Amino acid sequence: MSFTLKGMGSYLPSATFTNDDMAKIVDTNHEWIHSRSGISSRHFATEENTHDLAIQAAKIALTDANLNAVDLDAILVATFTPSEITPSVACRVADALEARDDILAYDLNGACSGFVYGLETANALLSTGKYKHILLIGAEVISKVLDFSDRRTCILFGDGAGAVVLSNTGEGRSLWSKTYRKFDAKCSLFAPGVPVNNPLVSHEAQPQKVQMDGTAIFQFAIEAIQRAIKEFTQETGMTLDDLDHVVLHQANQRITSYIAKTFKQTDEKFVSVIEDIGNTSAASIPIALTALKRDNRLHPGQKIMMIGFGAGLTYGAFVLSV
Ligand code: UT7
Repeated sequence: MSFTLKGMGSYLPSATFTNDDMAKIVDTNHEWIHSRSGISSRHFATEENTHDLAIQAAKIALTDANLNAVDLDAILVATFTPSEITPSVACRVADALEARDDILAYDLNGACSGFVYGLETANALLSTGKYKHILLIGAEVISKVLDFSDRRTCILFGDGAGAVVLSNTGEGRSLWSKTYRKFDAKCSLFAPGVPVNNPLVSHEAQPQKVQMDGTAIFQFAIEAIQRAIKEFTQETGMTLDDLDHVVLHQANQRITSYIAKTFKQTDEKFVSVIEDIGNTSAASIPIALTALKRDNRLHPGQKIMMIGFGAGLTYGAFVLSV
């Protein structure tokens, strides 16, 4: 079944915060942040919300795809930081782009695996033949839920959006995909939801900001990525040697470099944009894909593996030829 990456685009809010800027907020320094994560700076949305970033990325992706919004049959937005619970970011994007009114538009929350979960969903929709062009966006304004008094988390994340237009026409193919979840009794990566506002309902006080057990998540990420790559090899007979690019969720450069080394691959095969954007959760993979194209490194016939991992716990991999 065809699965063509017809267009892509990304958008970052204009305000940049360097590690030195973060050191004015919490007790940290550039050396610690860069050596532990590979991050030098990140963008925070000071005036825009999640749907604003999503709309900008979507417009660029549609132009790149040489399509109009009326050509879209579905708009999916992967986010764990929507502007509000409802209307969905997807509905806001549909309105802003003046998409048709007979389309599917909704948000999905796979946390940092959201874009890969979205690819899996889009692939299933495209393979029905009913949907021809799907806009898939990863968009986050994580700064809304960051604890700017917690140096273990606030220095890692950034805001941004990336979008792709996927079509069931053209030369591209989905080659292999798999999604996973893992029981997370300790809730090692947590973001708050809507506060309970009903006096009749008793509820435990919940933290109102992102909380993360970084060491546990680091270990989980390594095991998750290794499992996905091993099962890809077992089930397809292909190895990473057969791929042109690997795009891991941009959570930590140490994770990316460790995986490259473990599987005896060059760092160049593993796309890296974390230095200037930090961890943008569901947006990180489409932002990295767009950078690959912008740098003229994405060519027809190439094979790409994308792996997302994050809260839930969730993880998943998607391999396609473009
Ligand atoms: O997107 C979802 C997936 N997320 C991830 O994959 C994140 C995975 N985890 C990580 O990337 C890493 O665990 C971190 C970058 C979050 C942390 O790196 P680490 O090497 O695991 O550091 P650590 O948490 O073990 O902290 C080491 C020390 C601690 O001090 P003590 O207790 O040893 O005295 C921390 O208090 O570094 C201290 N520390 C800091 N120092 C300066 C923690 N944060 C900072 C900071 N600046 N920002």
